[in-house]
Amino acid sequence: HFDLPVSQLLSQMSIEEKIGQMSQLAGHEGWIPENLSAALRAGKVGSVLNEVDLPTVNELQRIAVEESRLGIPLLIGRDVIHGFKTIFPIPLGQAASWSPKVIEQGARISALESSTCGVNWTFAPMIDISRDPRWGRIAESLGEDPYLCSALGVAMVNGFQGKDLKDIGSIASCAKHFAGYGASESGRDYNTANIPENELRNVYLPPFKAAADAGVATFMASFSDLNGVPASGNEWLMKEVLREEWNYPGFVVSDWDSIRQLTIHGFTANDKAAAFEAANAGINMEMVSSTYHDHLQALVSEGKIDLEKIDLMVGRILTLKYDLGLFDNPYTDPASLPTILNKENLAAAKQAAVKSCVLLQNSNSLLPISTNTVNSLAVIGPLADDGYEQLGTWIFDGEAQHSQTCLQAIKDFVGESVEVNYEKALTNSRSHNQDEFERAVAIATSADVAMLFLGEESILSGEAHCRSTIDLPGCQEQLISAISKTGTPIVLVVMAGRPLTLTNIVDKVDSILYAWHPGTMGGPAIADLIFGVESPSGKLPVTFPRTVGQIPLYYAQKHTGKPATEASFVHMNDVPERAAQTSLGMAATHLDTHFSPLFHFGFGLSYSQFAYSNITLSDANISLGETLTISAQLTNTGEFAAEEIAQLYIRDLVGSVTRPIKELKGFQRVHLTAGETTTITFELSTDDLAFYDRKMQLNAEPGQFHLWVGGSSEATLRTEFYISDVL
Ligand code: IFM
Repeated sequence: HFDLPVSQLLSQMSIEEKIGQMSQLAGHEGWIPENLSAALRAGKVGSVLNEVDLPTVNELQRIAVEESRLGIPLLIGRDVIHGFKTIFPIPLGQAASWSPKVIEQGARISALESSTCGVNWTFAPMIDISRDPRWGRIAESLGEDPYLCSALGVAMVNGFQGKDLKDIGSIASCAKHFAGYGASESGRDYNTANIPENELRNVYLPPFKAAADAGVATFMASFSDLNGVPASGNEWLMKEVLREEWNYPGFVVSDWDSIRQLTIHGFTANDKAAAFEAANAGINMEMVSSTYHDHLQALVSEGKIDLEKIDLMVGRILTLKYDLGLFDNPYTDPASLPTILNKENLAAAKQAAVKSCVLLQNSNSLLPISTNTVNSLAVIGPLADDGYEQLGTWIFDGEAQHSQTCLQAIKDFVGESVEVNYEKALTNSRSHNQDEFERAVAIATSADVAMLFLGEESILSGEAHCRSTIDLPGCQEQLISAISKTGTPIVLVVMAGRPLTLTNIVDKVDSILYAWHPGTMGGPAIADLIFGVESPSGKLPVTFPRTVGQIPLYYAQKHTGKPATEASFVHMNDVPERAAQTSLGMAATHLDTHFSPLFHFGFGLSYSQFAYSNITLSDANISLGETLTISAQLTNTGEFAAEEIAQLYIRDLVGSVTRPIKELKGFQRVHLTAGETTTITFELSTDDLAFYDRKMQLNAEPGQFHLWVGGSSEATLRTEFYISDVL
């Protein structure tokens, strides 16, 4: 049942025109080939992606509206993932801010900027739970945790879509990739994902459900095969879960060529069968490939796909076009929108980068550096002064010329008072050429502090950019070793699209600031952190393993029947010769590395310190359906005014399916001046404790719960409560 204008339009459309609305074609970056304009005139295109040249976009809309029989405007799609011209930190970096406000503002600015080029639909947020840092697309994700990812994903949807899709600068967003893409085996992109239904529902689907509830306009099907059925033809996922259970009213777009790939997967025999499976599952629009265009009409005439079903699928696409106001005005006048890269946008990008950086280590409080106590700084590394690489993956429209680099920002900050020497040392992060090391060592030797800007260039993460090892690439570890021999204190700033295994170098540097790929304003943001204008406040949205062999490693793991403990842990180097099997601890761990991560989820240091105390509950016994209020005191015990991200975790001790050892259930960013104490409160209803059981029913189960409040997933301030089932 669609609104009248949509039903009226549907009633006038031929089957060809309906299938046209279900087809998305790629643009040609500034020109319109004859076959595209002919297809538009014939009503054979519902959407164009990757065209952001405004005169061309307006001309595409003109042809569609003025020269096609029914004058239906176009959806103009683009991957506006973490900025358009003003580039924000990569999404994984933004997730480290744990700030829905920062994320919503970033998405809003990205929507406004991309609107100036006629874009009305972005393929974001990417809300695939990502627990494998080998996978290149972890960069585009919001991390490993369903609760955090849901909250931040919804914030991104709200930012893109604004209050009303009709508002100037609002664009439709897209929850992708439905579903399970983040679990691609061995972190290899496009690979099979095998996820038991219970885990799928408890871990991978919640961010999508949250986005659907928040009104995300569209979904995108994943490239991957989920439990043997590729998502683009997965009737259970698209029909039973998305439509029947969740009652989702928006529409689903395939991924690029993913319907045709059903045949490459070995799921269908040919394109016609692929079109059938995708349409039957309810994929409303086909991205780029043409199986719908080529076969859907025949499938309808043969009675394999109902015309009613086609109407339903097309009606959802037309509804979005009405919701966006495209039938009233499909054209873009940039004069009606704020300018791109303006002062406010750059300031917001800088704040996002400030809040995204995570201080992982700060021995002897080396940071922040006071310009009063240093005379010279050595700035070293391939990422210190590279405006392009600091932008990160998925920045089709970002330009290096607008970036402010760290070297530039450090020089601007210290002015004439401190000597700054710079040596790139390596042509890029992958280089094995150590020819320039000597000069890097020389400037480090004569400096008061050496600042190393290392990590991964943008190309090493993102779609199809996966790695089987996640150490610092090339000979960057050797560079760190060489500089550490000088005895000069070292600040290491890492720019990367994923967690890296830093085990080999943590002892060789004093401070580590993890900056992800921080975007256009990365330089000034990092300079403000290094020199103490701001205190670091980011916290890890994803676990950092010690070694790649620990993957998948995430905080919400299960307890197992033989949990690893400090008491039972034995490293293989300490195993006596001819040890008995039972002397090895018999626990769920590896022999050659400690069972803990290098840096745990939720962790991040500040220039200040925070103490949590006095945890209290409104009631230690609640019934199903009731809500608990949790309070705790948080004190800034250090000497800096700073922000802390207070986190709430629970453990459900006994479940009809085993429960994770900790689950995030709340968080808040709190600003405290030095010495200030505040009371933080969280509300937790028994619905928040519900999980899918063996029968795939969503219920909270009565019993005992542990609850922690603290500054990371290793929080120690604990209390407990019970849920009774008797009201
Ligand atoms: O949005 C992307 C998707 O994430 C991967 N394949 C291509 C799409 C459109 O560019």
